[in-house]
Amino acid sequence: MPIVEFDGKSIDCEIGENLRQVLVDHNLALHNGSSKIFNCRGLGTCGTCSVKINGKVSKMTTVEKTRLSFPPHCISRGLRLACQIKVLGNLKVEKGAGFWGQEI
Ligand code: FES
Repeated sequence: MPIVEFDGKSIDCEIGENLRQVLVDHNLALHNGSSKIFNCRGLGTCGTCSVKINGKVSKMTTVEKTRLSFPPHCISRGLRLACQIKVLGNLKVEKGAGFWGQEI
C-alpha cells in the first residue's frame, strides 16, 4: 500500500488511485488560493493541480503534456498534474506557490 507524503502528512492509498482524489479526500491543500474554487475538477485543462513528484507514478497523459506545455507552466520544469496521475508507489509530493502552483 503506497504512502503519499504531502504538506507534512502521510496518507495510505491504493496502487492506481488518482493523486488529486487522494489529496482532496484528505482535505489537503492541493489548490492554492482561489484555484480551490476555480479549477477544472480533474479534467486536466486548468493546470492548477500542478505538483512536484518524487516517486513512482503513471506516465504523462497527452492532456497533461498539453496543459503543461503552455504558460504559466513549462514542460521542462518537471511538474506534473495531480489529476492525471495514478499513484504507483510511495510518493513525496510538493506544491509550489502561485495560482497554478507553478512557482517551485
Ligand atoms: S484539476 Fe485542473 S488540471 Fe488538474
